[in-house]
This record gives sequence, structure tokens and C-alpha cells, in this order.
Amino acid sequence: MNFNPAIDTQNLSSVKPIMELRNVSRTFMVSQGVFRGKKPLKAVNEVSLKVHRGEVLGLVGESGCGKTTLAMMLLGLLTPGQGEILIEDQAVSGWNLLEITSRIQPIFQDPYSSLNPRKTVGQSISLPLAIHKTVQKKDRRQLVEKMLEAVGLPGRFYNSYPNQLSGGQRQRVAIARALVMKPQIVICDEPTSALDVSVQSQILNLLLKLKNQLNLTYLFISHNLAVVEHLASRVAVMYLGRVVEEGGCERLFSKPLHPYTQALLKSVLLPEPGQGISNVNLGAGFPNPIDPPTGCTFHPRCPQVMDICRTQSPGSLSIEDGYVECHLYRKENKNYLN
Ligand SMILES: Nc1ncnc2c1ncn2[C@@H]1O[C@H](COP(=O)(O)OP(=O)(O)OP(=O)(O)O)[C@@H](O)[C@H]1O
Ligand SMILES: [Mg+2]
Repeated sequence: MNFNPAIDTQNLSSVKPIMELRNVSRTFMVSQGVFRGKKPLKAVNEVSLKVHRGEVLGLVGESGCGKTTLAMMLLGLLTPGQGEILIEDQAVSGWNLLEITSRIQPIFQDPYSSLNPRKTVGQSISLPLAIHKTVQKKDRRQLVEKMLEAVGLPGRFYNSYPNQLSGGQRQRVAIARALVMKPQIVICDEPTSALDVSVQSQILNLLLKLKNQLNLTYLFISHNLAVVEHLASRVAVMYLGRVVEEGGCERLFSKPLHPYTQALLKSVLLPEPGQGISNVNLGAGFPNPIDPPTGCTFHPRCPQVMDICRTQSPGSLSIEDGYVECHLYRKENKNYLN
């Protein structure tokens, strides 16, 4: 089910994106051992993406493909090595962290480590208000209690400490803290995967409710494809630092184009690094990102590999609702789309 039918995923090309990545890359220098020096690891490799106002863009891919690195760059916590990030058409490269965080806020996987154990719930939620100085001190408590109510927590939790709360309650506090500054965009990086299954759907429903109430835009990173299918209006699939397919959620789930997307949809993604996709026969395991395969980096695992895939990178091919990076869909090949 497409959660957000108001967004016409076919005709987004004419709508201005609220956030855009243009050829964004980030490389880490990774140690090879004491005597072997360091080698570059391209965690995000020339990714271009548009996020439109009011949509939920799902971001999926195996562990280690670069999702969190991408999120950290959007949040201003990592600088891109190359490329540009724009918010409402303005490049964010000159912005300070305060400017970025007033528009974009994160909700991370583990609410326990993202909340300071020595601060009360009230102090944690009002901290952004104090830093940004947008609300006078005397009005902060009232606003924080309103936020607690919005996330379904009683006002008495104001003076509680994180260790006095359940995992689900802690994530509600983290959500309240993310939303208290009224951001436009929220980056949810596995927001429910550390929680008990029984509370996961409550938190997801809360995120949806708040999205509609506050007119938010979400980038939603998840291993759980069923959740992404339920929440997202569009989906981007990442493989070894690149987005290999992007498109409307309904189309992508019913007619995936990239052989990797096809494999993902038949699988259950595991959150553990290096585990890859356990229950799909993709041949070779997840490649070493320090030494990625030539040509299309998916080619050693691709069931439909052709000669060209071993030597040439496919580049991005526009399709009706997004793009795909696969030689199968080039003009000269059998699956050409147009
Ligand atoms: N600070 C860092 N230094 C070196 N390498 C890093 C650093 N951060 C990430 N990486 C590497 O970059 C790649 C992408 O990591 P990232 O955390 O973005 O993946 P992910 O898709 O979020 O994975 P997961 O699904 O497990 O959260 C991985 O190979 C990782 O080892
Ligand atoms: Mg991650």
C-alpha cells in the first residue's frame, strides 16, 4: 500500500525538491594493518537523489552499502568529499550546524545511546530549544510537555531519566527531541530496529501520525522491506555506495528493474554487517568495498550478467518514475524500456 497517494510519483520531475544530493561522494581512508598503510573506501559514490516535500523516501540496501554515511552527510555531521547537498535549492556547504539542524533532524536506531543518561527527559527535549534560542526559557517547559503529549507520553515523564523508561518510551523521547525544533525534514535511520517487535508498529504509526500532523518529509532508512513498502512513497536502493535504482514505491515493489532490487525483494535483509542476503542465491558474497569489482559493481553476483557489465559501469538511465543503473535497460539491449 502506498501510504502517501497524494504524491504523484510519476510526475515529480516538475516539482522542486526540498532536499537534493548532486553527485555526492564520501571516501574513508581505512587501515589495512600495521605495515600495509591505508586504502580508500568509497562509502558513498557519486549519489544523486531528490527528496520532495511531504514524501517518505525509503532507503534500502545491505549492511555496509553506505546508508548511514549518506544520512550523516545530510545531517551535516560528515562533509561530502565531493558533490553538493541542497536544501530548498540552496547549497548547504556554507551553513553551520545550527542552520542545518533547524531544518533537518535525525532519529537513530538506538534511543538509549542517543539520549544523555544524566539528563532528564525534559532537559533532553529542551536542549535544542536552549541551543537555538528560539523559545524563551519560561515557555520551554510548556512546549516540552506539549511535545511529550504529541508522542504519547504523560507529562510526568518530564523529570524521568532515560534508564527509567522502556525502549519504546525512550524512542518516543528521541522523537520528541527531534521534532521540538519543528524541522522540515527528518532522517530516520533504522528507527525501530532496536525495539521489541511489539512496540515497533506503535513507533511507526506514531512517526506516520506526526508526519501528517506536522507536514514533515522523511528519509527513512530500514532493513525491513515490508515497513518501507508500507511507509514510503518512493524508494532508493543502494549497493556498494551507489543508488542503483530509484522510483515510486508501488512500481518498485511490483516491478523491480535492477537485478539487485529483484534479489532484495525476494530476501530478508539482515542488520549484521557482512551477512549479506542469506536466503537468495546471489553467488559470490558482498564484495570488499575497498577493492570493488570493475564495471558494474554488482556483476559478480548478478544472475543476468553480460560481458559489458564486467568492464563498463552502466551509469544512470532515466526511467518514467526515477532511474536505474543497469546495462540490461540500455537501448541496445533486450529489456530497453522506452
Ligand atoms: N568512520 C568510518 N571510517 C571508515 N570506514 C567507515 C566509516 N564509517 C563507515 N565506514 C565504512 O563505510 C561503508 C558504509 O558504512 P555505513 O555505515 O554507511 O553503511 P550502512 O549502509 O549504514 O550499514 P548498516 O546497514 O549496517 O547500518 C562500510 O564499508 C563501513 O565500514
Ligand atoms: Mg547504518
